[in-house]
Amino acid sequence: MAETKLSFKDKRWSLHGMTALVTGATRGIGHAIVEELAEFGAAVHICARNQDDIDKCLEEWKGKGLTVTGSVCDLQCSDQRKRLMEILSSIFHGKLNILVNNAATTITKKIIDYTAEDISTIMGTNFESVYHLTQLAHPLLKESGQGSIVSISSIAGLKALPVFSVYAASKGAMNQFTKNLALEWAKDNIRANAVAPGPVMTKLLDSIMNSSGGDESVDGIVSQTLVGRMGEAKEISALVAFLCLPAVGVSQLSLLLFIWLLNKILVFFLYRLSFFRPNHAWYIVGWICQLFLNI
Ligand SMILES: NC(=O)c1ccc[n+]([C@@H]2O[C@H](COP(=O)([O-])OP(=O)(O)OC[C@H]3O[C@@H](n4cnc5c(N)ncnc54)[C@H](OP(=O)(O)O)[C@@H]3O)[C@@H](O)[C@H]2O)c1
Repeated sequence: MAETKLSFKDKRWSLHGMTALVTGATRGIGHAIVEELAEFGAAVHICARNQDDIDKCLEEWKGKGLTVTGSVCDLQCSDQRKRLMEILSSIFHGKLNILVNNAATTITKKIIDYTAEDISTIMGTNFESVYHLTQLAHPLLKESGQGSIVSISSIAGLKALPVFSVYAASKGAMNQFTKNLALEWAKDNIRANAVAPGPVMTKLLDSIMNSSGGDESVDGIVSQTLVGRMGEAKEISALVAFLCLPAVGVSQLSLLLFIWLLNKILVFFLYRLSFFRPNHAWYIVGWICQLFLNI
């Protein structure tokens, strides 16, 4: 049987010519995402708080022939977020195709024990910074003509787990923000998605597993997975890259158009039926359908 070759020259399956920012990319999931996006052809900029770690990563990626730049930014500081966007705008000439909101932190405690400072550190890094950075990135994403935002959420944002309440709230907020972003920025040709991994062995997870109650929480989630093991950073990065590909944008749009068309046909059909029924019941059914199916 003749082998079918996937042509990476096909623009729909390539990130060549595209620009990306991945936050918190010196290790773990962010590091894997950078490699995945750069291997698909994107020029990537990274940020983290430690300059030495950034330098080591850039050296490693240079050796692999990947186009990656980086700068220090503590995402908890509003001024540093603004500075990061200025640097990015100058490197990428005002155009950004992909924003990956990856950096995050956590402190595991029981609800009763969290201090105001803990809450501000977790929400500031995991949610406020994502919101602000996304706002700052809007002109650059719009200018690219083909923008994609992927935020790394967590299973903790979907499911209640012990000792994760603030982290969970930050990821739950991120999930809802992603839906609002998708709705408001679609007109600017900017897509928004969130990826919510289960446990992946990284420094973040290591610190969770070494904290009181953290290891039980993690074991509980892993035991509920079908594969019975933790995920790997490369498995998450593959999904992120997939969501950024132009091919996905097209199919999402088709699906939305299909649902929209189906909705309109159904509602039209129900309205027409109402002309033959004096009690207007079909009008009500029509409106309910409109309410629930509208996108
Ligand atoms: N690992 C898991 O099991 C898991 C599961 C679900 C979701 N996630 C999510 O996946 C994402 C990546 O997690 P990970 O496990 O790969 O974490 P990680 O190994 O701890 O890496 C975090 C990265 O973010 C950077 N960072 C942390 N705070 C920062 C700040 N204030 N400003 C700038 N950079 C900062 C770190 O560098 P510096 O410390 O040098 O700044 C590092 O590069 C997070 O959003 C996390 O919530 C992870």
